[in-house]
Amino acid sequence: MPKVVVLPGDGIGPEICKSAVQVLQAVAPDVELDYQLLGGGAYDQTGSPFPDATREAVMNCDAVLLGTVGGAQNSPWNSLPRPLRPESGLLQLRQALGVYANLRPVKVMPGLESLSPLREDLARQVDVLIVRELLGGAYFDPRRAIEGESAYNTIGYSKSEVDRVARVAFDAARARKKEVTSVDKANVLEVSELWRGVVQNLRDSEYPDILLEHEYVDSVAMLLVKTPGRYDVIVTENLFGDILSDLAAVIPGSLGVMPSASLGDGPGLYEPIHGSAPDIAGNGIANPTGTILSVAMLLRYSLGRGEEAGLIEAAVQAALEKVRTPDLGGQATTQELGQAVLAGL
Ligand code: NAD
Ligand code: IPM
Ligand code: MN
Repeated sequence: MPKVVVLPGDGIGPEICKSAVQVLQAVAPDVELDYQLLGGGAYDQTGSPFPDATREAVMNCDAVLLGTVGGAQNSPWNSLPRPLRPESGLLQLRQALGVYANLRPVKVMPGLESLSPLREDLARQVDVLIVRELLGGAYFDPRRAIEGESAYNTIGYSKSEVDRVARVAFDAARARKKEVTSVDKANVLEVSELWRGVVQNLRDSEYPDILLEHEYVDSVAMLLVKTPGRYDVIVTENLFGDILSDLAAVIPGSLGVMPSASLGDGPGLYEPIHGSAPDIAGNGIANPTGTILSVAMLLRYSLGRGEEAGLIEAAVQAALEKVRTPDLGGQATTQELGQAVLAGL
């Protein structure tokens, strides 16, 4: 029996996970669920945002489904020593699982173009996969400190770290339009120069069938709004990917609809890309779509059940034609949207 560890987390996490788990159980009733703690709630209960029991469970499962972690800007969690904060729990989880490639697909569902803040003719063309490097760069580089009146972080990458995530992007492009845009800041940063060289070498030696372009991150931020239809697969380092994916995420209408898959050599990690939304947590109105679509990615990438994944995606699209949470301009609750998806399965 496949085993999925569920980490509801903080804020809206438990609310959206509930709907997503119902969808998972409807299409894959044989999956065994194991609920564990992660984030601020985990710290409050155990003294660690990534407790040993959670580590043990995720290292021995087929896939992990995560809600969200973190508190509001004024949460006491934000004053804890950094390794004890909710977000550190998430980073430790990603590191433990070795999930170095974060896939964030951005697609505007046919018929739902009017939900986009962009003009419908622009929104209609959007179908981009952002491949974000997830275990390197400033997030994990040990060269960091606050020293008296100054502070620093370092964006370090080794050739092998760039190579392995670029491979994921090229492989993904082979199943799509065969175009990869590598995003960097090589006009200023040495680390980007290395990044660019490794990606180009890999393309030339092993992926001659892929069209590769290099663009600067500031320019891509602008072009993702101006002409988002020009991109197929984007591959970029951790921090640039974090920022560009929130930007791209609103193109389908709301941060609440974006799923993600984080892949490495072991179990995959599946989570919506948004945060714990403290401003609406507890109100029952969070959009569960990103988490439900993350379940579809889990079925496809970790359990080899593409057919069930497709069913979920179709049911989500049909549900959103009629039932919308407030972030999409509607009045539905989390539960009502979840039920509409279930009804469409
Ligand atoms: P956020 O993504 O939580 O919220 C930004 C805005 O989008 C808010 O107005 C929120 O209400 C809205 N929103 C987000 N998801 C939504 C959904 N599913 N339905 C409806 N509206 C939604 O970003 P933030 O406010 O910058 O961060 C809040 C906390 O979440 C912080 O502690 C941050 O560190 C954490 N965070 C966690 C994750 C994660 O767990 N993967 C990701 C990002 C941020
Ligand atoms: C995300 C989040 C996380 C990140 C935070 C909460 C650590 O913003 O998943 O995009 O920066 O990776
Ligand atoms: Mn982010």
